[in-house]
Amino acid sequence: MSDTTAPGPRLRSSRWYGGLDRDGFIHRSWMKSDGYPGDLFSGKPMIGICSSWSDLTPCNSHLDEVAEYVKRGVWEAGGVPLVFPAMSLGETQMLPTTMLFRNLMSMAVEESIRGNPIDGVVLLGGCDKNTPAQLMGAASVDIPTIVLSGGPKLSGKYRGEDLGSGTSVWQFSEAVRAGEMSVDDFLAAESCMSRSKGFCNTMGTASTMASLVEALGITLPENAAIPAVDSRRRVLAHLTGRRIVEMVHEDLCPSRVLTRESFANAVRVCAAIGGSTNAVVHLLAIAGRLGIEFSLDDWDRLGRDVPLLVDLMPAGKYLMEDFYYAGGLPAVMRELGDLLDLEARTVSGRPLREQVVTAERIGDDVIHPIDVPIREDAGIAVLRGNLAPDGAIIKPAAASGALLQHTGRAVVFESIEDFKARIDDPALEVDADSVLVLKGCGPQGYPGMPEVGNMPLPKKLLQRGITDMVRISDARMSGTAYGTVVLHVSPESAAGGPLALVQDGDVVSLDVPNRSLRLEVPEDELARRRSTPESGPSEYVRGYARLYIDHVQQAHLGADFDFLVGSSGDEVKRESH
Ligand code: FES
Repeated sequence: MSDTTAPGPRLRSSRWYGGLDRDGFIHRSWMKSDGYPGDLFSGKPMIGICSSWSDLTPCNSHLDEVAEYVKRGVWEAGGVPLVFPAMSLGETQMLPTTMLFRNLMSMAVEESIRGNPIDGVVLLGGCDKNTPAQLMGAASVDIPTIVLSGGPKLSGKYRGEDLGSGTSVWQFSEAVRAGEMSVDDFLAAESCMSRSKGFCNTMGTASTMASLVEALGITLPENAAIPAVDSRRRVLAHLTGRRIVEMVHEDLCPSRVLTRESFANAVRVCAAIGGSTNAVVHLLAIAGRLGIEFSLDDWDRLGRDVPLLVDLMPAGKYLMEDFYYAGGLPAVMRELGDLLDLEARTVSGRPLREQVVTAERIGDDVIHPIDVPIREDAGIAVLRGNLAPDGAIIKPAAASGALLQHTGRAVVFESIEDFKARIDDPALEVDADSVLVLKGCGPQGYPGMPEVGNMPLPKKLLQRGITDMVRISDARMSGTAYGTVVLHVSPESAAGGPLALVQDGDVVSLDVPNRSLRLEVPEDELARRRSTPESGPSEYVRGYARLYIDHVQQAHLGADFDFLVGSSGDEVKRESH
């Protein structure tokens, strides 16, 4: 019995399944071994579900379940769902830092999509780096694409208090070091903080990226905040499966959804939600894949004057579960109104305006009305000066107002290991006015730009009640962290940036209102200190880490590989012979 019919020509998958020759036989026959009837290869859209599920990525460990609901929607709409693995980056498990592997995952995603008989793709992600890595890869292929996030954890609960992923850990660990919390209590809080599946429940990087992909228009509405275990996350998955099949028929590719206007919307939304500083490198990298002109200075210019509306940890007090009940991201975007380009296209096929016009804000506490914001100017600030010629960033909403204009003497650490070895040394010459400077943690220097920029304060100052100091590095920081922390200094120290020249006792001036970061050392002295830059640590002589060091761009360009910028499209240039 023959059960094969040639599909229509317009589907990409017809290249694999449309031929009545030897190659068509092979492509179909091996798929039929999994029980697919032949008529499924006759013009039905093949929908890839790119899943970053892994037991080693606890925040994504439920994505296999979520994928089942996406499949329901795809089948219902007349497509054929095919789940395939992407690399999975477990933020809390993977060493030395998942950022080292973001670009590698993006390559795996890009080549998996391009090389397979896929007409449209659902990117199923969650934990921090998975979302940008998947979208970077898919953007470089540019077939119809929709993102679905796994959703946040339920709020942590401990002795009547809400616990926020990450944020509470930083607070508790400082309390233990200051002698204000017992180790027994510290350990008891562990399981209370992570009591359900899902990504971090604070406005950390995962929640930020889930929000920003919604603001970019590349998800269905409400993607950001529906808790991972809420049945409405399953409904969203089902609807996402339905919609991607329609998008294939409409040929609605990322390049038609993701525009300069949508990136501008994402920057403004990032300010309003108090989003993670990590979004800076991720959005720059995604835009780079699409050839969209979007720079570090756009972050400052577009985010300036956008008020902080969402009162979530780490900058505030509530959590993602509260955010969902308060109306979620659609309510924030409605509140922002004309600060956004509401005509921006979305994967729904309709402009953003239609998605947010009916959104409702429940109460004034979690999402503030725009005329009563939490603070007026919440955008990420971009600093420049002789210490950061290509820029550095700070999140004023998470900083201490009194330190935003500050001059102090540098206490310098040459590496994170040096920092850990000396920070609690009673003999360390440091006081509350000092500026902690950390080198060697940029993209090339670590390598991988780890989240160590929010350096813990010296124990002796914590015990005196000091809770914040100016800290400067070429590292990133966790989106769940807080403090007056200058990050992403570019060029980094390992690439010969001026950060490498700072010495103990040098005077450093931070002036956030005037966007300035200066090393108050005469230029002739800096010239004397200058030597030939190294290109990352020399012990990496082979493998991926070497490739990374040789090709990663600086933070102000998104830390993507130089050879990955742009798109290769969906065409596979050679046949299988
Ligand atoms: Fe996975 Fe925070 S560690 S989202």
